[in-house]
Amino acid sequence: KLGVFTYDPAFFSTSSCTSEITFIDGDAGLLYYRGYPIEQLAEKSDFLEVCYLLLNGELPTAAQKTEFSNNITHHTMVHDQLARFFNGFRRDAHPMAVMVGVVGALSAFYHDSLDINNPQHREISAKRLLAKVPTIAAMTHKYNVGEPFMYPKNKFGFVENLMYMMFATPAEEYVPNPVLVRALERILILHADHEQNASTSTVRLAGSSGANPFACIASGIAALWGPAHGGANEAALKMLEEIGDVSRVPEYVQGVKDKKYKLMGFGHRVYKNMDPRASVMRQTCYEVLKELKLENDKLFGLAMELEKTALKDSYFIDRKLYPNVDFYSGIVLRALGIPINMFTVIFAVARTIGWVSQWNEMIADAEHKIGRPRQLYRGSVRRDFVPIAKR
Ligand code: SDX
Repeated sequence: KLGVFTYDPAFFSTSSCTSEITFIDGDAGLLYYRGYPIEQLAEKSDFLEVCYLLLNGELPTAAQKTEFSNNITHHTMVHDQLARFFNGFRRDAHPMAVMVGVVGALSAFYHDSLDINNPQHREISAKRLLAKVPTIAAMTHKYNVGEPFMYPKNKFGFVENLMYMMFATPAEEYVPNPVLVRALERILILHADHEQNASTSTVRLAGSSGANPFACIASGIAALWGPAHGGANEAALKMLEEIGDVSRVPEYVQGVKDKKYKLMGFGHRVYKNMDPRASVMRQTCYEVLKELKLENDKLFGLAMELEKTALKDSYFIDRKLYPNVDFYSGIVLRALGIPINMFTVIFAVARTIGWVSQWNEMIADAEHKIGRPRQLYRGSVRRDFVPIAKR
């Protein structure tokens, strides 16, 4: 299988869990979904097939894939009443704030008819979330830019539909560019799951209380918003724009070494080697820019120079700081025409399958349940109350 493990029971305190979904070897820079290397899936698979794999544990047969795809496609519309939630937000609200609110609101439409201990109900919820989160994400963008919502079209594939709902308008025919669709598909595959990261652990912890899956996913979206987690691609692109020119790379790197700021898109809690997703992302970045005849894109050249400079510098080497998945993803998303305030929303669209798969695994088997985290108390020792007159 993936190697012989000798689990140290002490390591698995109540705040850890076991899982069969994603394997990471941070020192070797390995990432497997259900045993399949991420590089192979990114190159040879498609996003819905990866969703089936993460949720069910095996790659689908042709018949299973067709049934799964059709099921998702026919659940992409949302209840028309849900559209009213958007009007409660200012137009310039951050899209992640809207996503937390509207995805959480799905609970009001589905949770009362849901028994999370029934596997069929869990599967239906997982498919509803997988199908509807992209629609809500596109609606969030349309609301932000003041354009009308575009309903999903069943003739499109999953990723084509997301691009259609985001970029089409009633006034113009929209034909998705297959190279750009493939690039976005790869980005979704790379971001689909990543073991027990902050947002997935949040979903598991919320789910361990028996909360409905829609509320749990909304809690995951909230956790993903943080700049040290899902918000890093937005922060990395802003960093590249701030550096502005290759000539400023040495000065900026010095600022990192002087601890004035961190290098966004670099470093990882687990990877102490190259994040395998970063290499695929760099290649995807080049392919998209080439398709768009933007090979000399300034920010891409700047990112590569920054990576080259850092990877030669002992400050980064000694701390095992390498590019992570967020370092190049911002450049690709920008080239796809996705606005910077939607980068983490796209991450949430991708990670929904990881969240629901891990939630499903946990509810299905107590052994996979995350325990109630404990603490090391370092506060005051016991003491008696002091009346205010004596304080
Ligand atoms: C994601 O976990 C996941 O799976 C998450 C994710 C996913 O798919 O879900 O992979 C997505 O969140 C990727 C990470 C995105 N975040 C960023 O790119 C933000 C920048 N990175 C840092 O915030 C940081 O690297 C962390 C938080 C991601 C990881 O920090 P670590 O590895 O726990 O390291 P640390 O904070 O303990 O720091 C160790 C040393 C320190 O220096 P010293 O005190 O030893 O001198 O490394 C330094 C840190 O100051 N350091 C950095 C740095 N990250 C750590 N220095 C400069 N730039 C950085 N980015």
